[in-house]
Amino acid sequence: MARMPDIRNIVILTGAGISAESGIDTFRGAGGLWENHRVEDVATPEAFARDPELVLRFYDMRREAIQAKHPNPAHVALARLDAEWRGGLLIVTQNVDDLHERAGAKRVLHMHGEHLNAWCTACDVRSQWRGPLIADSSGGRPPCPACGACALRPDVVWFGEMPYRLDEIYAALRRADLFVSIGTSGAVYPAAGFVRDARELGARTLELNLERSQGSAWFDESRLGPAGELVPAWVEEVLDARAA
Ligand code: APR
Repeated sequence: MARMPDIRNIVILTGAGISAESGIDTFRGAGGLWENHRVEDVATPEAFARDPELVLRFYDMRREAIQAKHPNPAHVALARLDAEWRGGLLIVTQNVDDLHERAGAKRVLHMHGEHLNAWCTACDVRSQWRGPLIADSSGGRPPCPACGACALRPDVVWFGEMPYRLDEIYAALRRADLFVSIGTSGAVYPAAGFVRDARELGARTLELNLERSQGSAWFDESRLGPAGELVPAWVEEVLDARAA
């Protein structure tokens, strides 16, 4: 197993748990309900086809809510690592909030899309989007800034859809000496399988999570506790070991 000074390339996978201390709900809390909706009722293409207003309203609420939240010490610590780590580093996030970026991280890949983008299903262009996507009082949905069609949807990967930029993620996993998973339950593939892939490709594997994730057995080491404490301590350790 690689010692810290042997580590050059790091891949970090983050999930909803890293944003929990910023006040953003995780998905698999009590009873699998998410703001009183089952995930399948709002996070599938079928749900959108069946009841677009329900789905748009749900994502409008989430989009509005995240803009009032702030990065926590875990986001800040990863941004520091990103700034100071001279080797390869990729923060693959399943989160659709922008808290990694607001903390200052640059090497971030949103594999499940972003709340602050809208995707036009007519022209396929993604546009930055902060306001609502639901129809206004006159009944019209907002037009796409690129083509004018009223065919915008949240730029969020739903169940049954392909996550973004998997080629880049697997290329980074092939190079990784260390794979770290933070705040994710390990319930949703393909992200849940990254630990096995990384391990089989020779990386050391570490999880930082409130409780053991579903794939916990695949990690060389599990540290249990809140991300706001574990992540800054781990980053300090990595940067100190490099300096030693
Ligand atoms: N610090 C660290 N971990 C935490 C904290 C915290 N403060 N609070 C909660 N956790 C842990 C939980 O114990 C759980 O294991 O974070 C994990 C969150 O799990 P999920 O809610 O399942 O979130 P995530 O793994 O990101 O979900 C994956 O599911 O619905 C989809 O697309 C959605 O990206 C999402 C995907």
